[in-house]
Amino acid sequence: MTKVLDVLTGNPVAKAVGKQLGVPQATELRRGRELPAGDVVLAVLDGSGASSGATSEALAALGVTTADAVRDEPATRTTGADGRAVPPAYEAKIGAVVVDATALATVGELEGVRAVLRPALRALGPSARVVLVGTAPELVEAPEAAAVQQALEGITRSVGKELRTGGTANLVLVSTATTGAALTSTLSFLLEGRSAYVSGQPWRVLGGAPGEVPSDPAAPFAGRIVVVTGAARGIGAGIAEVLARDGAQLVVVDIPAAGEALTRVANRLGGTALQLDITAPDAGHRIAAHVAARHGRDARLHAIVHNAGITRDKLLVNTDEDRWGSVLEVNLAAEIRINEVLLDATVAGGLAEGGRIVGVASTSGVAGNRGQSNYAASKAGVIGLVRAEAPLVADRGITVNAVAPGFIETEMTDRIPFATREFGRRFNSLSQGGKPVDVAETIAYLAAPGSGAVTGQVIRVCGQSQIGA
Ligand SMILES: NC(=O)c1ccc[n+]([C@@H]2O[C@H](COP(=O)([O-])OP(=O)(O)OC[C@H]3O[C@@H](n4cnc5c(N)ncnc54)[C@H](O)[C@@H]3O)[C@@H](O)[C@H]2O)c1
Repeated sequence: MTKVLDVLTGNPVAKAVGKQLGVPQATELRRGRELPAGDVVLAVLDGSGASSGATSEALAALGVTTADAVRDEPATRTTGADGRAVPPAYEAKIGAVVVDATALATVGELEGVRAVLRPALRALGPSARVVLVGTAPELVEAPEAAAVQQALEGITRSVGKELRTGGTANLVLVSTATTGAALTSTLSFLLEGRSAYVSGQPWRVLGGAPGEVPSDPAAPFAGRIVVVTGAARGIGAGIAEVLARDGAQLVVVDIPAAGEALTRVANRLGGTALQLDITAPDAGHRIAAHVAARHGRDARLHAIVHNAGITRDKLLVNTDEDRWGSVLEVNLAAEIRINEVLLDATVAGGLAEGGRIVGVASTSGVAGNRGQSNYAASKAGVIGLVRAEAPLVADRGITVNAVAPGFIETEMTDRIPFATREFGRRFNSLSQGGKPVDVAETIAYLAAPGSGAVTGQVIRVCGQSQIGA
C-alpha cells in the first residue's frame, strides 16, 4: 500500500497539503560524528548544592569551546516599542545548550534553568542539542533538593516535545563521584549526530572511572573483539557496520538459515561469521570457542551485543505455549545463558575484565503493546537482567546496559500492518522512524571502552515516542 503519509510529507506541494492537514513534518537528522553547527553554550547554574565541575571538564576534554549563556533576567531585558519587556536574544543560531544543574537544591533555584533555556530554545539551529546535567535524585538526601533534581526530568521531557527541526533534549544524571573523564564519552555522544534519534531520555553516569580511554577517538574499538548476534540483516547488520567503522574485530552470529547473508556481512566488514542458533544450550561455549579458535587461546571478548530477536504477535487470549516460549527463549533465556558462560573468567574466549554487555530491549518492554505480551515480557526481562547483572560485575569493570528501540525502519517493521506502522513511525517528537544506524550508534557508545562509568542503564532510541513516554 502507498505510504500515504510519506507522500504527504515527501514532495513540496504534498508537504504543504500535509502541513495544512496537521501531518507532522519530519526533518533530515544530523547523524554520524558531526558536531552541531553553531556555538555550544554552557551554563553552570549556581545553587545551594555544589557542582562537581565534571560537565565543564568533560567539554574541555572534548576540545569543545563553549560560549556563555544568555539569561532571561530582569537586568538583561529591554523594553519594546509597545512598552513590553523583550527577553535578551543570541546574535546567531546556536548548536547546543548544556546546562549543569547539579547544584540546584531549592525550588526557587529552578528559575535558573528557565532563564537559560528561554533564549537558547529560540536560537537553536537544526538538529541542535539541549543537554541537562543533574544529580541523581536518589543520591540526594534533602527532600527538596531531590525533588528539584527530579524536576529536571520533567523539564527535559517537555522540552524534547517542544523542539522542532530535529532537535533533541536529554538529561544526564551524575553523582559526586562522576569525574569529567567519566562523563566525556556521554557528552561526546550527545553532542554529535550519533545520538540523532535519542530524545527525552534521562540516564545515569554514576561511576568515577571512564574505563580505558582509547588513544584514537575515531577507532575506539581498535584491537578489540566484539560479538553481535542476529547480525545477518536489519539492526544487527547496522550495529556490525558501526562497530567495524570504529575499529572492532567482529564476530557476527546468526541462524544457519541466514548463513549466506551473514557471510556477506562478515566479508564486507572484515570479521568472521558464526552460524549459530543462540537458543542452543551450548551457545555461550560455542561463541567463546569461536573467539579462542580465530583469535588465539588468550584472546578475550571486549563486548557482546545481544541483538538477535523475534516477534510472534497475537493477543494473549490467542497465544499458545509455542508462541510464548519461542519468543522468551530467543529474546531472553538465551541471553541469560550466554552471559553466564561469557562472564566465567575461566572460559577461554570469554568476556575480558573491563568488558561490555549490551542488550536490545524495546519500547514494548517499557510500555507494553497490544498483541505483544510475549515480546513485551521478553524485552522487559532484558531490562530487568541489565539492572540485576550490572552491580554483580561492576568490580570487574564490566558494564551491562541495554537500548530500547522504538520504531526502527527494518524488515521487522515493514511487516507491521499499514495503519499501525504509520502510527508507530510518526507518533514521536521527531515525527519519523529511526534507522538501524541510530540504534547502532547508541550501542557503540555503551560498548565503547571509554564508557566504563555507564552501567545498569536502558537508553530508549525512539525519537521520544509517545508510546510509553
Ligand atoms: N525494528 C524495530 O523497530 C525494533 C524495535 C525494538 C526492538 N527491536 C529489536 O531489535 C533487534 C533486531 O531487530 P530487527 O528489526 O533488526 O529484526 P530482524 O528480524 O530484521 O533481524 C533479527 C535477526 O536476528 C536473527 N535471529 C533470530 N533468531 C535467532 C536465533 N535463535 N539465533 C540467532 N539469530 C537469530 C534473525 O535471523 C535476524 O537476522 C531485535 O532484538 C528486536 O526485537 C527492533
